[in-house]
Formats: sequence, C-alpha cells, structure tokens
Amino acid sequence: MIKNISLVVGARPNFMKAAPLVEELNKHQDKFNAKLIHTGQHYDHKLSQLFFDQLKMAKPDVYLGVGSGSHAEQTAKIMVGIESEFIENRPDLVIVFGDINSTLAVSIVAAKLCIKLAHVEAGLRSFDNEMPEEINRIVTDRLSNFLFVSENSGLINLENEGVNKEKIFFTGNIMIDSLVKNLEEAKKSDILGNLSFSPQQYACMTLHRPSNVDNREMLEIILRAINKISNKIPIVFPCHPRTKNNLREFGLDNNIDGNNFKIVEPLGYLDFLKLEAESQMVITDSGGIQEETTYLGIPCITLRENTERPSTVDQGTNILVGMDYNNIIKAAGDVLEGRQKTGSVPDLWDGKTAERIVEILIKKQKE
Ligand code: UD1
Ligand code: UDP
Repeated sequence: MIKNISLVVGARPNFMKAAPLVEELNKHQDKFNAKLIHTGQHYDHKLSQLFFDQLKMAKPDVYLGVGSGSHAEQTAKIMVGIESEFIENRPDLVIVFGDINSTLAVSIVAAKLCIKLAHVEAGLRSFDNEMPEEINRIVTDRLSNFLFVSENSGLINLENEGVNKEKIFFTGNIMIDSLVKNLEEAKKSDILGNLSFSPQQYACMTLHRPSNVDNREMLEIILRAINKISNKIPIVFPCHPRTKNNLREFGLDNNIDGNNFKIVEPLGYLDFLKLEAESQMVITDSGGIQEETTYLGIPCITLRENTERPSTVDQGTNILVGMDYNNIIKAAGDVLEGRQKTGSVPDLWDGKTAERIVEILIKKQKE
C-alpha cells in the first residue's frame, strides 16, 4: 500500500517539477504522507533556496548536503546518503524527477532496496550517450515502476524499449504546472526595468551543457555569434556557475561585450519567467527552457545538435542550430526580420499534470 512517499530533488530544474506535486499530495493528507528530500547537488542560494521561496515550497524535510564533484563522486555520495535515509525511514514510494545525477543515484538505491520508484518526465531520449543526462534517463526508466510521461515521444521511446505498458502513464508536462501557476506573479517582476529593457526588444540566453561550455573552442564560437547578434538586439545572459567558472578558466570573460550583451548572475524563477515571456527570442541549451518557450510561444534557438524534447521542434517554437556559428546567426536574423517559427502547445501541457499523477497514485493505493 502506497502511503509514505519520499520525493527527492537535487538541482534547479527539479524544483519547479516537484513543487506542484508536493502541493497536490498535501491536499490528500488523509491518504499520503509526503516527505521532501534535497540531495544538495545544487546548493548556492540562487540555484536552490531562492526556488523553494518563490515556488512556496516548504524547507526540505531532509537535506543530504552532497555538493559538487565528479560524476562518480557526486552519484556515490548521493547513494550513500539516501541509502541511510531510506533504511531508517523506509518509504512506500520514491518519486524522482528529470535527468540529473540525483535522479540516477536515488533510483539505483530505491530499486536495490526494493522500494517502488516513480519517474516524473520519463521516456525522453536524445539518443546521445555523450550527454550524462541520457544515461541518467535510461537507467532511471529501466528501474521505475511508474513512468509518468510528458510528451508523445516518451510514449514511443518506452514502447520501443519494451517497457510494460501497464507502467506507463501519459500525464503531461509538470514544468508547465509551475509555469501556469506562477506566470501572473512573474509578470510583476521588475527585472526588465532593472536591465533597462523594453518588452519584445531584447533576447535572453542561457548556457550550461558540458558539450558547449567545457570546451574552449565551442564556448568561443558561441560567444562570437552572440556578440555579433547583440549588435542588432540587446542580450542578457544569466550565467550558470559551471559556465562562469569555465569563462574564467579559459580567459574568455572579456569576450562578452558589456554594453549590449550583459552577463548577470543566475536569476530566480519569477524574474526568469518574466524575462522569457517578454523576450523577442531565447537562445539556450537548457532542456526545460525549450519547453517553457514552446508553451509561451516565444522563438527558441537551441544550441544543440539534438533534443530529448522533440515536440518543442515538431510542434513548438524551438529550432536546433547545433554549435555552428553561421546557423546561430541565421536563426537569430530570421527572428529579427519577423520570420520566427510559430507553434502550438503539446497535449497535456495544461497545468494539471500533478493532479493526474496523484489521481493515478490514489487508484494504485486502492489496488
Ligand atoms: C546539473 C545537471 C544538468 C542540469 C543542470 C541544471 C547532472 C549531470 N547535471 O548540471 O542536467 O541541466 O544541473 O542547472 O546532474 N556549482 C556551483 N554552485 C552550485 C552547484 C554547482 O557553483 O550550487 C558549480 C560547481 O563548480 C560544480 C558545477 O557548477 O562543479 C557543476 O554542477 P553540477 O551539479 O555537477 O552540474 P550542472 O552543470 O549544474
Ligand atoms: N531558470 C531560472 N533562472 C535562470 C535560468 C533558468 O529560474 O537563470 C529556470 C527556467 O525557467 C527553467 C529551469 O530553470 O524552469 C531550467 O533549468 P536549467 O536550464 O538549469 O536545467 P535543464 O532544464 O537544462 O536541465
């Protein structure tokens, strides 16, 4: 019987996926005890606590404080920490989100302790094993008892991998639950005023994928392209710590023209949503931002060769330009000249995903 549920989060993109589910489970306290565990993979205030505050999510019940490290170090520390927690306070179900190292580590431990596992955002595949996230997704899905899928490609991928259909549930995109819930509040942010931007007259960029930022040559190409685009439109770049460290290490910090191409600290969720929603275009290598821009109808230029979220390209406003200088310039030029891609919102990206997941858990509780 599923009653005690531990939800585990670790890094920025987990928080907006967990918040709506914690809230929904707490509406059914007669049926479920929800416990929130934070591994501490992300620990800076601007990547962690700020999101708890803005998403109105209570302090985690347990904080493992694992911090940064190599993949093996970080994954191992999370496994050791979460194993003690699960042995001491054994839940009936563990819920993990997305594709980060915390997701993988927790899944392995839950599976070995024979605790039921649910994966929110299951089935996404980039088919690129050079992305650490792809390995995390494949292993997590293989071990999960409940696979909550956000878009149609996820259903197809899981079916192709031979996953038992009874484990798969098309519940929609939970990130959009948070977006829908917070958009009105985000609109009140004064971030545009602070940056001296006018609506629809600026672009916003984020960059943190190792394939783009751990490689000096790649990072330099991207910065050259963005500097060029910033001659035509102001660009703001809330910079992830991985990227900031590398810019410094590669001696590229001065390659950012501070006038029309501004680098700022990572932004809180509400400021960032406002910035996205009012921008003329977004340039990114983020997973979640490809989805948010599709929902918002904002052109998204993705600096990657592939995406595990193909509905944002097939249906949404996303285009993949790879890491090619000319492609990046051309894609931005198209938007600036009014030839931006329009799109539609994929099925079940409607703000009700958490409700659907909890309905399924209630049904399973009775079985
Ligand atoms: C992680 C996820 C990635 C996700 C991203 C979201 C993995 C393998 N990667 O990447 O899928 O898209 O989060 O932002 O799980 N650092 C800080 N402060 C922090 C956290 C990290 O300064 O609070 C710095 C450290 O130098 C650290 C580096 O950023 O070594 C990378 O952090 P890490 O959590 O390993 O990976 P991300 O690149 O953040
Ligand atoms: N985000 C934010 N502030 C920023 C950059 C991103 O709040 O400065 C939000 C963004 O709106 C989205 C999420 O962080 O909800 C995406 O996380 P990220 O790009 O770090 O990870 P990914 O989705 O690539 O795993």
